[in-house]
Amino acid sequence: MKVGIDAIGLAVPPTYLELAELARARAVAPEKYTEGLGTVRMSVPLADEDTVTLSVRAAGQALASAGVDAKQIGLCIVGTETAVDHSKPVSSYVQGLIGLPSHCRVFEAKHACYGGTAGLQTALDWIRSGSAAGRKALVICADIARYGLKTPGEPTQGAGAVALLVSESPRLVSFETGRVGTWSSDVHDFWRPLYSKDAVVDGHYSVTCYLQAVEGALADYRKKVPAPRSGRLTDSFAAIAYHVPYGKMARKAHRQLRALDGDAEPDESFERQVAAGLTLPSQVGNIYTGSLYLSLASLLALRQDKLDGKQVALFSYGSGCCAELFDGTVEPGAQERVRSSGILELLEQRRKLEVPDYEAVFEAREDMDQRPARATTDSGPLRYLGVQHHRRYYMSPKRQG
Ligand code: HMG
Repeated sequence: MKVGIDAIGLAVPPTYLELAELARARAVAPEKYTEGLGTVRMSVPLADEDTVTLSVRAAGQALASAGVDAKQIGLCIVGTETAVDHSKPVSSYVQGLIGLPSHCRVFEAKHACYGGTAGLQTALDWIRSGSAAGRKALVICADIARYGLKTPGEPTQGAGAVALLVSESPRLVSFETGRVGTWSSDVHDFWRPLYSKDAVVDGHYSVTCYLQAVEGALADYRKKVPAPRSGRLTDSFAAIAYHVPYGKMARKAHRQLRALDGDAEPDESFERQVAAGLTLPSQVGNIYTGSLYLSLASLLALRQDKLDGKQVALFSYGSGCCAELFDGTVEPGAQERVRSSGILELLEQRRKLEVPDYEAVFEAREDMDQRPARATTDSGPLRYLGVQHHRRYYMSPKRQG
């Protein structure tokens, strides 16, 4: 049975910041952000947007592009490290807002940026095991990356959600059982204490942990997956998508992966295997759980050569840490499907914020989880309204409250 990703949906806030302008405001050379980190723009969430609104929009796009009704979903997992509640999962809000059936398992998965991959692997196994009984799974990777203003992490923020429709006979990428190498280690590279809205990070150490995880996951992958009959293992991948906190990190990861595979010129394969996957992340910034899958969407949409039937590798990293290297096969026509899904156009519809406006929105988000819900009769896209009697309220064209 073929199992995998049948459709990808994306949601980003309607606003973004040019990193060159942020650099000037911080008295930093713009090239440090645009070339040194490899990020050109980052998505900035407004004060009426959270992981619920982003999840619902991304899920809606994935279902629409696949022509699948919400009633066909039997499992909905939201991978996020930007929860809206200590107990009630984002997936329950999603269930109500998009009308998932009652006989549907819904939950949230947290492990930093790895939470979405945890969801994807669970969904694949749920279908393979037969528990799905013909139903499909929705895995939503939704996050708002937030570091303090004027900190080194500031240019590596971002916000967005990627929804993956997972099913039998997938039309984008299929995955075989067992072709996964795993690595985990108890490290303090990046975390967010319960009392803080901003992440705490030991930035340079986090880069080291990510690269160690590449090595660990590759070693395990080699044990699980038979070596190719000839040539290097990494040459069997037509493309590789990495977790992209910023583009340069993916470049470093690729160098590490290829060098460990015996390549003395590890950068030579970068353009061919990786570059197309960094275009969309360079316009959005880090979206934590969704960033690997944004890279996958980017390479499917933007690679000019045909990937039909070819192998793509994915490297997922979540601080803390847990990482996985796994592979899949690109299904015929997948690139055209992603190109025509509207993902590329979505980024062109955004509005630029000036640095002072971005700073004001950043501050306004600080207490948004306690903001009293305002009454409104507006329609329009789904928005977070605030809290009343400790309940979050949303304004949706379909349903209110
Ligand atoms: P920093 O110390 O400000 O930057 O913070 P730097 O001095 O390391 O410079 C960055 C790069 O810019 C360097 O390139 C410089 O040479 C270059 P490299 O040496 O690395 O190749 N540079 C320039 N290039 C061109 N022109 C110039 C110029 N100046 C310097 N004028 C850091 C960088 C990434 C540490 C910081 O932004 C940070 O802490 N970010 C957050 C943590 C992070 O993203 N870590 C990534 C690995 S961990 C991960 O991916 C997990 C995560 O997504 C969370 C999760 O799992 O949930 C974060």
